[in-house]
This record gives sequence, structure tokens and C-alpha cells, in this order.
Amino acid sequence: MTLALDLPLRTERLVLRLARDADVDDLLSYRGDPEVCRYLPFPPQGRDDVVSRMAQWLEAAAAGPDADLDSDWPLTLVADLDGRVVGDVMVRLKAGPARSIAEVGWVFSPTVAGRGLATEAARAAVDLCFGPLGCHRVAAQLDPRNTASARLCDRLGMTHEAHLRQDWWDDGAWTDTAIHAVLRAEWVTPSRR
Ligand SMILES: CC(C)(COP(=O)(O)OP(=O)(O)OC[C@H]1O[C@@H](n2cnc3c(N)ncnc32)[C@H](O)[C@@H]1OP(=O)(O)O)[C@@H](O)C(=O)NCCC(=O)NCCS
Repeated sequence: MTLALDLPLRTERLVLRLARDADVDDLLSYRGDPEVCRYLPFPPQGRDDVVSRMAQWLEAAAAGPDADLDSDWPLTLVADLDGRVVGDVMVRLKAGPARSIAEVGWVFSPTVAGRGLATEAARAAVDLCFGPLGCHRVAAQLDPRNTASARLCDRLGMTHEAHLRQDWWDDGAWTDTAIHAVLRAEWVTPSRR
């Protein structure tokens, strides 16, 4: 099945689109940064890793959400700011016939931190979940020490639902996980913001 979504998504300042080969250097510049990856479930990425992940993103996008209902379906879009990729957002539809629970994630370059760009991209990702993808719940999982990400969840209007203690083995130590989520009925659509 081909992707039925109306991509790219456009926000006030960003174009959220599928990745292209020419994006590798931009992606590497922040996904290869140990500080950026500090609270992410993967180590800093090298070129080969970025290239193979990009191929996986495109393959999943091309397969579409209905290809394999027994597996999660991930969609990763890069955030293009005036021709440069400055971050990426991920939507993961959970397995199951209803496909109405999503997880979202975000990784942005520190070169654009503090301008609200990640929030802008994340809002568009949640809009996508509650709009075309028809979700009823959108959640984010994070290391509770990741306070910048927790503030982003707050800006999205998510509720801090849970704090799971020592449920993730992270490079030699158990770490906690925070779960933040918003329900369809709580989501403030762009026109009501
Ligand atoms: C998490 C992450 C995306 C947050 O980045 P960020 O720069 O804080 O987020 P935004 O781009 O939305 O910017 C928000 C900040 O800009 C400020 N800001 C300025 N203009 C703004 C605007 N127009 N709209 C919203 N916020 C604005 C906000 O006040 C906020 O600052 P504060 O948190 O100090 O109050 C970033 O730290 C990151 O990529 N980290 C590494 C990867 C990671 O950990 N990902 C999450 C895994 S769960």
C-alpha cells in the first residue's frame, strides 16, 4: 500500500517531510552528538547507522500503516527549516486492528534549541495522529531527567500519567521512565489554539 497521508506537513516555520539522501549530513550533525543522545534509547549514530535508519524510515512509510497490523508502524519525518534538516519527529502507531494509540518522539539539533521549533513539529505530529491517523490517545515516553522533553510534553497539553521506576536498562544502569499522554477529547486543534 502506498502512503495515503498528505505529506509533507507544513507548520508556520517548518516543512515536515520524508528524509532524502541529501539529508544525511544534517541528520548526522545532531544524531551523532552524545549530548543529544543522552536520554535516547540509542547511542550516538555514525554515518552508516543514519543511512540504514533512513532506509528503514522510508521503507516503513512506503508500506503504510495497514501493511502489517500485528506490528507497530513507525513514521519518521524530518523537520526542514529553510532547506536544512534541524530535527526529526516520530509517530509510532501501536500494533492492533484499531491502530488508534500512538507514541510520539522528537530529536532536534541543539543549534536551534529554545525557539519552539520542536514544539511546533510535535504539535503537527500530534495533529496528524488525531486527524488523518484517527488516534484516540497519543503518548510520549521519556527519561524523567530529560526536563526539556518533559516541558515540551507540558506545552503539548499532555498529562504526566506515570513514573515507572527502574524499568529501562540504559548502558549499565537501570533508569526510570515517565509517561505523558493526551487524549483526543483533550487535544486543542490548531483553530482553537
Ligand atoms: C527535547 C528537545 C526537542 C527540546 O528542545 P527545546 O529547544 O527545548 O524545544 P523547543 O524547540 O520546542 O523550544 C522550546 C523552548 O523555547 C522557548 N520558546 C521560544 N520561542 C518559542 C515558541 N515560539 N514556541 C514555543 N516555545 C518557544 C520555550 O520557552 C522553551 O524554552 P524552555 O523549555 O526553557 O521554557 C531537545 O532538547 C532535544 O532534541 N533533545 C535531545 C533528544 C531528546 O532527548 N529527545 C526526546 C526523547 S524523549
